[in-house]
Amino acid sequence: MIDEIWTGIFSETLLLDYLARRTGSCMEFDTTIVRGRSKPDPTTGAIIPPLYQTATYVLEEVGRDKGFDYTRSSNPTRQELESHLAAIEGGSYAVAFASGMAGADSCMKLLEQGDHVVCCDDVYGGTSRLFNKLMSNYGVHFSYVDSQDATNVEAAIRPETKMVWIETPTNPLLKITDLDAVGKIAKKHDLLYVVDSTFATPVFLKPLEYGADIVLHSTTKYLSGHNQLIGGAVITNSEGLFEKLKFIQKSVGAVPGPFDCWLTILGLKTLHLRMQRHWENAEKVAAYLDEHPKVAKVTYPGLASHPMHEIAVEQMSGYSGMISFELNGGLEAGKTLMNSVDLCLLAESLGSVETMITHPATMTHAEVPREDRLARGFGDGLVRLSVGVEDANDIIADLEQALERA
Ligand SMILES: Cc1ncc(COP(=O)(O)O)c(C=O)c1O
Repeated sequence: MIDEIWTGIFSETLLLDYLARRTGSCMEFDTTIVRGRSKPDPTTGAIIPPLYQTATYVLEEVGRDKGFDYTRSSNPTRQELESHLAAIEGGSYAVAFASGMAGADSCMKLLEQGDHVVCCDDVYGGTSRLFNKLMSNYGVHFSYVDSQDATNVEAAIRPETKMVWIETPTNPLLKITDLDAVGKIAKKHDLLYVVDSTFATPVFLKPLEYGADIVLHSTTKYLSGHNQLIGGAVITNSEGLFEKLKFIQKSVGAVPGPFDCWLTILGLKTLHLRMQRHWENAEKVAAYLDEHPKVAKVTYPGLASHPMHEIAVEQMSGYSGMISFELNGGLEAGKTLMNSVDLCLLAESLGSVETMITHPATMTHAEVPREDRLARGFGDGLVRLSVGVEDANDIIADLEQALERA
């Protein structure tokens, strides 16, 4: 049939219909990214899904609606986003949230008082704040281990352990976990296996293929991709988990607004193209930094010097735009660099088309005591760079002039 389509026997509408009827898993990945699982709007033919910016829906009669009653429970634009996210992650179900943290919090609500979680030690600071400062008040306990060695995960399991929480690559040290090895441990001990794959995106990593029960994304980052919104999502193949997470979504109401869902759908459609360019640029910038005399160490999963490079090569098909590097000059050098960049934007976030630079010691991790930071392996001169999709030469030129002063 596809040949007939290409020879023009079928109209554009038929082609769209044909593609839409196929599930994401049958299509080539890039096609799924652009099209998701959706059909053009049956009423108007609109290719971009309509934005249903509504709080509520009129009932046909008492007890009968058209599948929607109130947007906290369900919204067609949000459903469209959820179906698109599930398709590109290779999962059966997705549940969208108002932020990555709302998604993480909803995963926590799968636990009960007394439960224990084994978590990777370089987990995103907001996640550890949620765990240590909030969830601990509800009797959930956490152990943090360097999951780059999977045996550390198994060693930390207790009788009351219910979940393993892995972020890979991590924020900000870009640690890599062998997802298959940890997946086997989680399965053996019957634990829920959650993977925060925000840095990798489904373009480069598919945690469900390595046994993850739930994949978490901050859609604020690469998935929406343009610094335009805050959002999150969880994806799963388990109907039971989906039902529970849907119930949590509806009960708590940390849902993304329809407009943010719509913007995320538009962002998703170019994810593969953006990720390719983020990666290409990051390779060039990492190679440049690696040679720079003022840089003590560059961490990038694509560099052979990364301690988990071999695992990264095995489980990932690319390494995105995240680089971290340590400056020889420590805190002062870090501050000077931050204040000297021009094209690179001094900002907290990451994963957008613009290059953004962060100094964790004074920004994202300012709350973390210095000794803890040093013990975790990052010093005062650590810089996190989210390489954008501008011309790599301009990014390097900006770093060059800023490093001269640092
Ligand atoms: C790896 C990771 N997970 C989760 C989050 C939280 O996402 P959000 O800011 O959308 O709540 C972030 C935010 O930076 C992150 O970097």
